[in-house]
Amino acid sequence: MSERSIRPRRLRTTPAMRRLVAETRLHPADLVLPMFVREGIREPVAIGSMPGVMHHSLDSLKGAIAAAAAAGIGGVMLFGVPEEKDAIGSGATDPDGILNLGIRAAVAEAGDALVVQTDLCLDEFTDHGHCGVLDATGRVDNDATLERYRDMALVQAESGSHMLGLSGMMDGQTAVVRDALEGAGFVDTAILAYAAKYASAYYGPFREAVNSSLRGDRRAYQMDPANRREGLLEVELDIAEGADVVMVKPAGSYLDVLADVAATSSVPVWAYQVSGEYAMIEAAAANGWIDRERAIDESVLAIKRAGADVVLTYWALELAERLG
Ligand code: PBG
Repeated sequence: MSERSIRPRRLRTTPAMRRLVAETRLHPADLVLPMFVREGIREPVAIGSMPGVMHHSLDSLKGAIAAAAAAGIGGVMLFGVPEEKDAIGSGATDPDGILNLGIRAAVAEAGDALVVQTDLCLDEFTDHGHCGVLDATGRVDNDATLERYRDMALVQAESGSHMLGLSGMMDGQTAVVRDALEGAGFVDTAILAYAAKYASAYYGPFREAVNSSLRGDRRAYQMDPANRREGLLEVELDIAEGADVVMVKPAGSYLDVLADVAATSSVPVWAYQVSGEYAMIEAAAANGWIDRERAIDESVLAIKRAGADVVLTYWALELAERLG
C-alpha cells in the first residue's frame, strides 16, 4: 500500500456507508409503467411471454392505474390491443377504438397523479403488423404513414393523452405531429420521441403481447444495432422537430448510445427497458439461475447510471413498491 493509503474499500464497509456514497438512486417518480388495454375481454388476461404482465380490460385498467398512482410512479405508457385489424390500422384513429377509450379511462382515473403517455404507432392496428401503411410494392410508405400519425395524434390528444409516444421511426414524424398539435390548439400535449430506436430481437415478447401479425422485420425503418453515431443524428432531428423528451430503446444493450445522448441532449432523456429484457431476467429467475430482485435492481440502476432520467420498465410498480 502507498504511504497515504487510498483504500476505496473504506466506502464499501457498511450498508449505511454504501448507501451514502451511492452515485445513482432509483426513485418511483423516475419510473414509467407500460400497460396494455385489450378490446373484448372482461377480465385481465396473462401474457405468456411476460410473466406478471397483463392485458387489461377497460375496467381492470382503472384499478391498475389507481395502483400505479398509489405507488408514486411517474407515469404510464398505454398500448392498445384491438380485435380487428386492417391495412391502414383504422382502429388507431377511431375515437372509440380501444386505445382511445383506454386513454379516456386512464386520464380520468389518473387525475393529477400520473402522466398518461400513449403509443403513437400503427403496428398494433395493422393486419400486416408494420408500423406504417404499405405502398404498392409492399414497402412501408414513410410519407403516407405520416398522414396516419397526424390523425392518430389528434385523436389521442382529443382523448386527453398528456404525452404522445412516437415509436414508429418514420422520418419527419415529430415535425408532422408537432405541427398538427399546434394547429389544432393542443399546445400543451407533450411529445416523447422514440429517437434512437433499434431493430431489436428484444421486442419478441411484446409482439405476443400485442398479438402482432408481423411477417419479416422492421430493419428498413428502425435503426441498425451496429450504429452508435447515428443515434445522435436521430436525437438531433427529433429535438429540432419539436420533441419534448427523447428516448433510447432498447435500454440494456444500448447503454453506450444512452450515455452519448445523455451527454449532449438539451431535453430529458428516457430509456425503455423492453419486453425481452424483462422476459430474460424473469425466465432465468424462474429457473433459479439468477437472483431475481438483485438482477432487476441492477438492470434498472445500470440504465439510470448510463444517463437515463426516466426508465420505462415493466417492473415499475414492483420497484416502486419495494423502494417505497
Ligand atoms: C411499436 C412499439 C414496439 C414496442 C414499443 N412500441 C414494438 C416494435 O417496435 O416492434 C416494443 C416494446 C417492448 O418490447 O417492450 N408500437
